[in-house]
Amino acid sequence: MANDHEKEASARASLRFVQDGNIVGLGTGSTAAHAVRLLGERVRAGLKIRGIPTSTGTRTLALAAGIALTTLDEFQQLDVTIDGTDEFDPQLNLIKGGGGALLREKIIASASKQLVIIADSSKRVATLGKFPLPVEVIAFAEALVAKRIAALGAKVQRRQSADGKPFITDEGHHILDCYFGQIVDPPGLARVLSDMPGIVEHGLFIGMASVVLIATGDQIQEFRKK
Ligand code: 5RP
Repeated sequence: MANDHEKEASARASLRFVQDGNIVGLGTGSTAAHAVRLLGERVRAGLKIRGIPTSTGTRTLALAAGIALTTLDEFQQLDVTIDGTDEFDPQLNLIKGGGGALLREKIIASASKQLVIIADSSKRVATLGKFPLPVEVIAFAEALVAKRIAALGAKVQRRQSADGKPFITDEGHHILDCYFGQIVDPPGLARVLSDMPGIVEHGLFIGMASVVLIATGDQIQEFRKK
């Protein structure tokens, strides 16, 4: 699969941001999974790091890869986090949460000196919003929040698991996938959503990425925060 090849290539390119002794945030999703596996190879070759996973799924992968783990209880600052994205725009604003881990991902990103985003070429967009924006909500407030987001112009859908039941995040919440089409003012929308009672977190990551590494075939392009 071309995309998977690009995901692995971008993950490989991110390894140079990780130094001996680092506390490393481990992202979630198929691209981040490549980074976890490749970091595991480096650990077996002698690299000394401790990882903080952004989901239970990544925790399992990291343990299988032989990466020593730690927690935010022990370290409130991370040296670097490597994570994927669903979309990124020219300002390096992101939509994240396709894998349902946006809450822990944003917490870890906010505590990291550097957030390195890795992606295949399909994730680069001129304007965010084609990918539905994931919004993590408290189940009690779900209908109210869905109505308020719909009033902002989005088509809102509760995320479901394969068994037809509501998708439940690692922190026990539901996710609303919000189809905006085009988000012309990502920082403005982020503020509106952050102020809405019942929303735990949303998938707009504004000004958080330090660098985005995208692979197009074998070519890596690096975009830096201005
Ligand atoms: C998970 C995420 C992922 O990073 C995002 O969905 C990208 O996933 P993938 O690398 O599988 O395309 O935000 O919550």
